[in-house]
Amino acid sequence: MAVSKKIKKMMESASWIRKMFEQGARLKELHGPDKVCDFSLGNPNIEPPLSFTEALKEVAGREPGQHGYMPNAGYPHVRSKVAEFLCREQKIKITGDHLVMTCGAGGAMNVALKAILDPGDRVLVNLPYFVEYRFYVDNHGGILDITPCREDMDIDVELMEARITDRTAAVIVNSPNNPSGRVYPEETIRVLVEMLEHRSREIGRPIYLISDEPYRKIVYDGIEVPSIFPLYKNSIIISSYSKDLSIPGERIGWLAVNPEADDADELVGGVILANRILGFVNAPALMQHIVARLQGECVDIEEYKRKRDKLCAILEEAGYKFLKPEGAFYLFPRAPGGDDVAFVNRLQKELILTVPGSGFGMPGYFRIAYCVDDAVIERSREGFKRAIEAVG
Ligand SMILES: Cc1ncc(COP(=O)(O)O)c(C=O)c1O
Repeated sequence: MAVSKKIKKMMESASWIRKMFEQGARLKELHGPDKVCDFSLGNPNIEPPLSFTEALKEVAGREPGQHGYMPNAGYPHVRSKVAEFLCREQKIKITGDHLVMTCGAGGAMNVALKAILDPGDRVLVNLPYFVEYRFYVDNHGGILDITPCREDMDIDVELMEARITDRTAAVIVNSPNNPSGRVYPEETIRVLVEMLEHRSREIGRPIYLISDEPYRKIVYDGIEVPSIFPLYKNSIIISSYSKDLSIPGERIGWLAVNPEADDADELVGGVILANRILGFVNAPALMQHIVARLQGECVDIEEYKRKRDKLCAILEEAGYKFLKPEGAFYLFPRAPGGDDVAFVNRLQKELILTVPGSGFGMPGYFRIAYCVDDAVIERSREGFKRAIEAVG
């Protein structure tokens, strides 16, 4: 056997998103790419803003040595720039000392977990959740616990509390949520942090709140994502430029430790060491120079809003049941007939690619990633209609 038993098992249970991607490639080969409506991946279709391309040109070849190693936490001036922006965005006081540049949000989550988990520690996440968390937690010897959500996909804090044990090291919250598009209201976060404070005291260790926020800027209808730092001291915020600047392939993001956290400096030190020894060493140099110049920039959210509204109208007309997404670029309807895998297969007959809710721990639903051309959404109209009619 070429790979370990553990990896073999993971490969077998590999993510639904990848499976759909592969089936999609097969369908595209068979029918032609313009015939397939591919809603399977969260790969932004909007091009990065012009300011990104301009910064890229400006920065390239500018200074000798700019492609060399650097401090593992990232360039000090870049960390300061990001921290300055965070002060405004999250209405908090933070400096570059509590900020580490990372290889995307995925890299940031791994360094956070590496820094805080001992083998056998548990991490809690509410449904539905980004499937990679299970692998990330396992990477660092942890165990992922899942808690159900409310009917409206909000966090059920009572149920979450019931899952906390004396080995719970962290809770992950992802808002705007992939796959539900839900933005958790401030009131929910307040109740959650009250519970975490109380339970941390009881078990005699801090339960960290890790807020995964790569979609923070992609929100609609004037909704605001609550800031975690002012509400809970033992918190870590993770983000990236993958979605809001449409540059997921460039692998650039950051992690911020709440300066008020217990032993905050030690935690930052642990995160920096983790960044180094996980093999990232540091976040990509060129991209750090670029994002430092683009703080606050974002692709045009109105474009995603237009796509959301178009897709909502199509699904509503066909009779699907779903909550209108408040952020991110995903829609998570109930699977007609109740069997998400069967329904996703039925949609494939219409050359529509989506991902079963089972891939996000929530059978009975399916995810539509609408970060695609408007024409794809329009083309899917009849297929969505036929598929729901076929199920009855
Ligand atoms: C909720 C969530 N967290 C993290 C990531 C990873 O993002 P990045 O490309 O910045 O690593 C994704 C990517 O889809 C995501 O949806």
